[in-house]
Amino acid sequence: MSERADLNRPNDLDSFWMPFTANRQFKKTPRMFVGAEDMHYITDDGRRVLDGTAGLWCVNAGHKRKPIIDAVRNQVEKMDYAPAFQMGHPIVFDFANRLTTMSSAFDHVFFTNSGSESVDTALKIALAYQRAIGQGSRTRLIGRERGYHGVGFGGISVGDIVNNRKFFGPLLAGVDHLPHTFNLEKQRNSRGQPEWGAHLADDLERIVALHDASTVAAVIVEPVAGSTGVLLPPKGYLQRLREICDKHGILLIFDEVITGFGRLGAPFAVDYFGVVPDMITTAKGITNGTVPMGAVFCKKEIYDAFMDGPENTIELFHGYTYSGHPLACAAGLATMDIYRDEGLFERAAALAPYWEDAIQSLSDAPHVIDTRNLGLIAGIELESIPGKPTARAFEAFLKAFDKGILIRTTGDIIALSPPLIIEERHIDELVGTVRDVLKTVH
Ligand SMILES: Cc1ncc(COP(=O)(O)O)c(C=O)c1O
Repeated sequence: MSERADLNRPNDLDSFWMPFTANRQFKKTPRMFVGAEDMHYITDDGRRVLDGTAGLWCVNAGHKRKPIIDAVRNQVEKMDYAPAFQMGHPIVFDFANRLTTMSSAFDHVFFTNSGSESVDTALKIALAYQRAIGQGSRTRLIGRERGYHGVGFGGISVGDIVNNRKFFGPLLAGVDHLPHTFNLEKQRNSRGQPEWGAHLADDLERIVALHDASTVAAVIVEPVAGSTGVLLPPKGYLQRLREICDKHGILLIFDEVITGFGRLGAPFAVDYFGVVPDMITTAKGITNGTVPMGAVFCKKEIYDAFMDGPENTIELFHGYTYSGHPLACAAGLATMDIYRDEGLFERAAALAPYWEDAIQSLSDAPHVIDTRNLGLIAGIELESIPGKPTARAFEAFLKAFDKGILIRTTGDIIALSPPLIIEERHIDELVGTVRDVLKTVH
């Protein structure tokens, strides 16, 4: 059944099981996007909605960018698909080379199709690496409370958002969690990184003492935790984690799925914080959301550890049918060109102070108990309605959509992460509308 009476409205909403959505509620009062351009979405009733979230933190260069569309079109006309198992195609090598030139720390890239796959790939590489260097007893993985690392079994095991875990059985064995880094009393209304909290990294010493370093393979953290409601790393915290990992021979992985590709005003959080982990996981900004893709960046030592043994053996028994899909690579190369040619990372850095002032101006808006920001990220935490967690923020989300802005909420926290092409007038509109909305929510 494909004929639709109205091209903008599906005949039936039933078949599609929507991800991370209250299906029955949505299907009673659907909200549909049918078009997009630059900073805006277009709804099925023809309204323009300002995108305060870059889709889902992925459309960093703004919507429907012509060079990306052209690159994908040209590629699909040339070659639609080619396998990357025991075969190659030029553009996948070109794209990997391009990505490694963006960072002095990493020399190799493993392609995936999403952030979740990047995380599970990095965790598997960490385990296999320890084994390859003769440290096969190192099998424990350490994540952090309130972490989000996608929805694969590896990711939900090292992550800690209770609803993402509690339905799915015992998860991976041998996982432990660092404490999260948020403390409302000590960090309220943080302009950038909070002063308080570096010592929380020392908990890694406790975990290592509990299990012994010889059992620990890797630590994975988001440099800035996004999905749990924007938690900023305290000053010195990431450096401390790096030092403790080094001391005990533990690999450090930064999950840069939201921070990669300019969100903080630098190519990666690695550059922004000046702390270099052993691997980073990326996805969202890599193709500007145009074609699904993710990438794990590895240090040379990690890749080299696998390049051992007879040359006819496969070194890593891992990969996806669509690893390095030609259309994704074409979109990715065009995306990197836009980031460079339009100086979008620098632009994000230049706009960050304006963004900060605008976000912090909401600290006295109704229901707001905390405002926090870094780069072009913001978290606006609302006081929960007693007995009804998430209700207030969700009401704000619906009202904001009606008033022409797209925001994202998690728990009772509004998270904002606009495309890096945002202008000051858009920031004013976004923040002004959030304030108006907060005046009307229960
Ligand atoms: C830090 C982090 N890791 C992993 C993921 C999962 O990415 P995906 O939804 O592409 O699987 C996300 C998605 O929001 C994320 O924020």
